[in-house]
Amino acid sequence: MKKINLLLITTFIFMTSLSFSIEDNEDEILRKGLIVYKKANCMGCHSWHGKGGGGYGAGVSLREPSYEKAELINIIKCGIPGTGMPYFYRKSYKTEKCYDTLKEDYTDDERPKNSKTFLNERQITSLATFVYTELQGKDLNKENCIKFFSKESKVCENL
Ligand code: HEC
Repeated sequence: MKKINLLLITTFIFMTSLSFSIEDNEDEILRKGLIVYKKANCMGCHSWHGKGGGGYGAGVSLREPSYEKAELINIIKCGIPGTGMPYFYRKSYKTEKCYDTLKEDYTDDERPKNSKTFLNERQITSLATFVYTELQGKDLNKENCIKFFSKESKVCENL
């Protein structure tokens, strides 16, 4: 009898800790979002600070617009055809329509460009949450810089 109780209790504890680890909290999602921002090289065009103007393809500011989170997810998944903003979801325009279109609806030179790095849905959601919460409508501050470069960096000194 005692052994069974112990087994039940252990199983219960195991299951609860499992359900906690499945549901990430907001901080964890934001932390992952920043990792995805780097992995997908958003800073290649939007700069590390998200104000745009970075390197090749000079992207616009991600701090100025005020998209809904669902719209951000869509922009990341589908890109913006006819501009330098590539799409980051492998199935886009292949098996999943974007803006109600598939690849074959475009001529060769109009065809939406994919990013070199593809992201899965979970990564895209974390990234959209990061852009929505940490960038949109926010001024750049030193804390953003330290979070991005993980330690006090020279870049952050004058902020
Ligand atoms: C190769 C360059 C490039 C990369 C990499 C890139 N973008 Fe963009 N992005 C652009 C350009 C250029 C635009 C402006 C498109 C236009 O003219 O409307 C843009 C637009 C956007 C917009 C819409 C902004 C607005 O004002 O309407 C969002 C949101 C965005 N990018 C998010 C991202 C995120 C998140 C990543 C990383 C996953 C990323 N971009 C990676 C070039 C890039």
